[in-house]
Amino acid sequence: MTQLSSASDVPSMGRRQFMNLLTFGSVGGVVAGALFPVVNYFIPPSTGGGSGGVTAKDALGNDIVVSEYLKTHLAGDRTLAQGIKGDPTYLVVTNDQALESYGINAICTHLGCVVPWNAAENKFMCPCHGSQYDATGKVVRGPAPKSLALAHADVVDDKVSFTKWTEEDFRTGEDPWWA
Ligand code: FES
Repeated sequence: MTQLSSASDVPSMGRRQFMNLLTFGSVGGVVAGALFPVVNYFIPPSTGGGSGGVTAKDALGNDIVVSEYLKTHLAGDRTLAQGIKGDPTYLVVTNDQALESYGINAICTHLGCVVPWNAAENKFMCPCHGSQYDATGKVVRGPAPKSLALAHADVVDDKVSFTKWTEEDFRTGEDPWWA
């Protein structure tokens, strides 16, 4: 009888522990899944650059080579690169198939989600709470309180050098809030 009792207890405990594990595991999985795209852009931090700037890197951590990049990224393209302090930063391809002289920091000014580019809408549209930014990153719909930050994106030796944007924000005519 004792054997039967302990035998029935064991599966019961086992199931509870299993359920705990499942709950923890799935929460952990969701958190890890949500953070991965962000973490991916923060590690390793981007450093170096020939002019005191930060060399733009692709999602794999390789330096972006501009002449190669422009073969596959056509006019109007906005693709994320690793920017200053590892921030996800959009490189913009101009209508005449060159790199725009600024990069757009993809971190939403509301609560920090990475904002995807929506080519069909010609806007950056945050999936978290619906903020929208125009093609230059200027906020056009809240709750985001401010436009996306800018960085200079200069081509040096066929690579992109990001440097801080401390001048007037050309989209608003105001001092940059991020400087
Ligand atoms: Fe983008 Fe809230 S974090 S709208």
